Amino acid sequence: MTGVGRRTFLIGAAVAGAASTGTAHAAAPVFEHGVASGDPLPDGVLLWTRVITSKPIRWEVARDEDFHRIVKRGIARTSAARDHTVKVEVHGLRDNTRYWYRFRVGDVVSPVGRTKTGGCGSELNFGVASCANWSAGHFAGYGYLARQDLDAVIHLGDYIYENNYGAVREQDPPHECLTLDDYRRRHAKYKTDQHVQSLHAAHAMIATWDDHESADNSSSIGSPQHDPATEGPWGARLAAATQAYYEWMPVREGRLDRTFRFGELATLTMLDLRSYRTDATILGAAQRDRLIDTLTTDRARWQFVGNSVMMSPLKVPPLPGLPQSNPDQWDGFPADRELVLRSLGDRKNTVFLTGDIHSSWAIDVPLGGQPVATEYVVTSLTSDNFDDLLKVPPRTVALQVEAQFQALNPHVRFVELDSHGVSTLRVTADEVRFDWHYVADKKNPDSAVARAHSFRTRHNTAQTERVPL
Ligand SMILES: [Fe+2]
Repeated sequence: MTGVGRRTFLIGAAVAGAASTGTAHAAAPVFEHGVASGDPLPDGVLLWTRVITSKPIRWEVARDEDFHRIVKRGIARTSAARDHTVKVEVHGLRDNTRYWYRFRVGDVVSPVGRTKTGGCGSELNFGVASCANWSAGHFAGYGYLARQDLDAVIHLGDYIYENNYGAVREQDPPHECLTLDDYRRRHAKYKTDQHVQSLHAAHAMIATWDDHESADNSSSIGSPQHDPATEGPWGARLAAATQAYYEWMPVREGRLDRTFRFGELATLTMLDLRSYRTDATILGAAQRDRLIDTLTTDRARWQFVGNSVMMSPLKVPPLPGLPQSNPDQWDGFPADRELVLRSLGDRKNTVFLTGDIHSSWAIDVPLGGQPVATEYVVTSLTSDNFDDLLKVPPRTVALQVEAQFQALNPHVRFVELDSHGVSTLRVTADEVRFDWHYVADKKNPDSAVARAHSFRTRHNTAQTERVPL
């Protein structure tokens, strides 16, 4: 990528520095939470920022980083009712094209963001991330993605954590989020992070949420970590978490399951596996019907599904304290899974992109013993995984457990339980390649990040295969 990142990053870092020294609420409006873009369409994109002001907020979109060629501009407003966050829906842009954007209140100018519209050329490149636990570490993996040349970043959930599961960094609020004010403060804290700001300033994001944007293993009817007797009605808490997410994330509001088209090459359907989940369904009927309709009628060469929890059936080896399967994944909803996988018929061009389980997997998704799709699971950016939880050195105890997983689940072609990081996804007509890039030390904000494993799926095979580094 070009020098864009450096300039944007420097401004973002300066703003973050000002915020942390307590000048955030000075009289002049400050863009202390950076800028973001998301939900790219062939003719437009959504822009985001936050600024405390009652004045008009001017925005500009240009073809160049120095704003010599401004192609769109307008005025937005915000208020305390939406926690001073700003969203601008820009249309009338060219497809598959880079743009730069900024906001201005009076003489105060925001950091510059870079984005890209939908559509595609002969290939697509995405970043993929999930499970960014502030308390458990630093987000060097986001900084690494910010420096890559990408069309967009797909975020598969646990963008925030509602609780404080770690001791590396202090969180705000210091307690578990329960109220609208709590969830807003949590989102605000995340968006002061230098790597969060540099990631958003560099790429459009396509995000869905998982459980920790509300509460652990949440559904529409509750969470094992929510006690209505002491914490109030679950519905009020879920509504607060939803409102804060919509205010603070560069997503269109209304529903999180939505479909993005990248020319004839790829279609990406993001799922919301929390808002409509009950004991009987992970999708809800309306979302299930929309997903199956897209998978069976869309003509793109590849179908991607942004899927917060693992689709493939998974038998868990005997481990102390762990059940033999994880009912929070699709394993808890076999009827929904069978309907979705059966709908694929003999089209073998579907790829599930998954987060949630803080580990790296490549899987040939089986139905009736035959592979019908492939699934790639990105590991956690920082959230604890096998070696963290067992307090053992990486690549020791996990090796044996990984072998047990593969012996019990022959459709699992690769599993790595210890490392943290991000992934990249490269899409061409012939193949999809999925790379895992691991962070050397999640406690170090300047940690090295390097590609560690690569797999690919050739078109119409529904099978994963390792690509030598
Ligand atoms: Fe997670």
